[in-house]
Amino acid sequence: MPARPTLAILGASGDLTARLLLPALFRNENREELETLRIVGYALEDWDAETFRAHVRQSLDEFAPPVSQDAWRRFSERLDYRSGDMTGPKLAVLEEVIDGPASFYLALPPGVFAEAAQGLGDAGLQDESKGPRRLVIEKPFGTDLASSRALEADVSRDWREDQIFRIDHFLGKETTQNILVFRFANRFLEPVLNSQHVRQVQITASETLGLEGRYKYYDKSGAMRDMLQNHLMQLFTITAMEPPPLWDERVLRDHKVEVLKSVKPFEPAHLEHRAARGQYAAGRSGGETVPGYLEEPDIPADSITETYAAIRLELDTWRWKGVPFYMRSGKRLSGDITEIAIEFKRPPSQLFRETRLAQCEPNWLVFRVKPDETIELVAHAKKPGLGMESHPVSLRTDYAADRSAEYAAYDQLLLDVIEGDHTPFLRYDEVEAAWEVVQPLLDAWESGTPEPYEAGSDGPASADRLLEHGDRWRPLIP
Ligand code: BG6
Repeated sequence: MPARPTLAILGASGDLTARLLLPALFRNENREELETLRIVGYALEDWDAETFRAHVRQSLDEFAPPVSQDAWRRFSERLDYRSGDMTGPKLAVLEEVIDGPASFYLALPPGVFAEAAQGLGDAGLQDESKGPRRLVIEKPFGTDLASSRALEADVSRDWREDQIFRIDHFLGKETTQNILVFRFANRFLEPVLNSQHVRQVQITASETLGLEGRYKYYDKSGAMRDMLQNHLMQLFTITAMEPPPLWDERVLRDHKVEVLKSVKPFEPAHLEHRAARGQYAAGRSGGETVPGYLEEPDIPADSITETYAAIRLELDTWRWKGVPFYMRSGKRLSGDITEIAIEFKRPPSQLFRETRLAQCEPNWLVFRVKPDETIELVAHAKKPGLGMESHPVSLRTDYAADRSAEYAAYDQLLLDVIEGDHTPFLRYDEVEAAWEVVQPLLDAWESGTPEPYEAGSDGPASADRLLEHGDRWRPLIP
């Protein structure tokens, strides 16, 4: 009989495990996926397997209800637990429960990633004589270019690149994957996705939520490190990359790195028109009055952490030369929307009566991640009735109306780790290239202050300076 695969979750008593990993594993159980996977929790808590099972059950009742008795019986039989810290001698206890392929998921604070990767190495758990061994690391991978390189050096002491799975959960989202399918499985789109036809691209991830208790983490991070350097940069590379000649994890990731390498570097003298940052002040959000960032618990009164960041990227490539890619993300904004919106240039002449070019809505192709997973094309069609007038119509497909799709990113990514498919994970050169793009801004933003914006608004006014004459940011409420 082949040895059973094991998933060891380091940080099994934490928030990420309870909210995202356990529900994803349990939903996969319901789909009869990964049924032979043994799941071992590992954390400092001095629990036994029974206590861990009770903890898992409580997490599932809270974050993945309803929990059917049948599925729970099957799932709970596969759970085990060991306790200890991140040193080699303690981690070696995992040997007791691993007899074949194993993946080690670091559901830990980023400051502990290097220690955990090396502790596993000291315990010899990366050794592949009994089957593949994999290390799964969450974002953020470093806090800037230098720290990401240092982390990479620590992690790669014992782990080869092909054993490492760096997660960016946006890559597991339906819409992200659908951009690739929609672009490359159809004939009509690719020929017009270039500077001859595209006027601009806006990539937005706006949230009405504040910090949700993560004050200490967020104050050291800010919108650029928390969202733009990773999640939005991934949406950008997938939108801008050249068509890969084959569906191969190396080729796909090479193409994404090419995009990042062709970004025109930020020049300090032109930053005003290439980047903007803001910090929310008190205001109204979600129907209630909320405090400003500086009044939040654990936030120093003189913090200059940005809760909003916007950048304008330009690519020095034949395909995209001259097309601005705008990216923005923030907390406590007016709406919850995540989308990639591509605006096409207007037709060269306007043929139809009573529709003056200036008033005519341009064509937009929008890939929406949130609140609904849709693809929408705003186009012109004949206005019904006598005469030849056009009016805008929206051609729209809801391809994932199921609410559970919201969480499906981790379901898919865990399957991919166990199956050893690297496609939706980040290679280190991608992470490094993304840090290289944003590093000049991180340096510039060490001084000065972000512009305050009212909670519940669309963000700081200075973001408008990034736009070309005549362009406007898209609304944050769909
Ligand atoms: C996380 C960020 O990586 O992504 C959060 O740390 C953010 O600040 C979240 O809220 C957004 O992800 P999603 O899937 O809810 O859009």
